[in-house]
Amino acid sequence: MTDTLEPDDAGIAKAAGLLGAGQLVAFPTETVYGLGADARSDLAVAKVYEAKGRPSFNPLIVHLPDLAAVEAIAIVGPNARALAGAFWPGPLTLVLPLRADAGISPLVSAGLTTVAVRVPEHALAQRLLRAFGGPVAAPSANPSGRVSPTRASHVLEGLSGRIAAVLDGGPCAVGLESTIVLPDPDPVLLRPGGLPLEALEAALGGPLGMGGDADKPTSPGQLMSHYAPAAGVRLEATQARVGEILVGFGPVKGALTLSESGDLVEAAAHLFQTLREADRLAGPGGHIAFAPVPETGLGRAINDRLRRAAAPRP
Ligand code: TXA
Ligand code: MG
Repeated sequence: MTDTLEPDDAGIAKAAGLLGAGQLVAFPTETVYGLGADARSDLAVAKVYEAKGRPSFNPLIVHLPDLAAVEAIAIVGPNARALAGAFWPGPLTLVLPLRADAGISPLVSAGLTTVAVRVPEHALAQRLLRAFGGPVAAPSANPSGRVSPTRASHVLEGLSGRIAAVLDGGPCAVGLESTIVLPDPDPVLLRPGGLPLEALEAALGGPLGMGGDADKPTSPGQLMSHYAPAAGVRLEATQARVGEILVGFGPVKGALTLSESGDLVEAAAHLFQTLREADRLAGPGGHIAFAPVPETGLGRAINDRLRRAAAPRP
């Protein structure tokens, strides 16, 4: 059975105890819910791959409470330090060289010499990390390839019975996974996400390289089909075709909308919940169409997720 834990001291203590016992606990972050495991335990980390049905070559992000805790497991170069100073805690993941003595299970980084690390801002995530007192490996808390969870109920829809507990912190404020950057020596964007590219470039004082080719799954949800609802997905739609559920944005009105006022922050926060809702309305074998979303700010990450939702399924 999967327990739902309340966001209070008792719930945090229970969640930390379960992590310490090598169990899986889903918890809220400002981006999406993570499926947490003790990153030092091969067994606990193996359970994450098993619960998600995740290909074992796709490594996990390690969550830590602050930069000092990150420095205990990874080498923080100059660009990493600048980005950490500007955006941690927050929706940014950095890929850094792993320290040999870090004590992180090799299953976390799937055998790579680097490790992806993130300091989340969400108050419950912070409290859980401090109560647990160790590194927490956490991918998004959804079955591999499916839509990411932004509420505790989404976690239970996908993983109930496969994990020990979910800490219920209500809806996630950002709603898109973290932006992933390889910061040093030359910064490269590996996955667009909840921190806009423009903000990164402003902090670094120059452009980022673009990485993360879908044909080379070295990183991020880089397997092309991802976030896949049951229904088929069409993009750049301005009108619903017969039998389609249209998801609007700004001036394009549909049965549902990402943001009536065309606000990208609101659209990001609503994206995954709306994708689930549209999937339910479309029904088995149904079709969903999405209105165009501008390719700026959080729009880049929204479009990245929509393109993956629309990609041919394996
Ligand atoms: O917002 C988020 O990032 C959420 C919350 C829970 O923190 N987590 C998340 O994890 O989205 P996940 O596993 O769904 O995506 C992590 C991505 C993977 O696609 C993986 O390929 C990439 O991070 N990654 C992990 N370690 C890496 C590494 N050493 N080098 C390059 N990419 C890495
Ligand atoms: Mg994911």
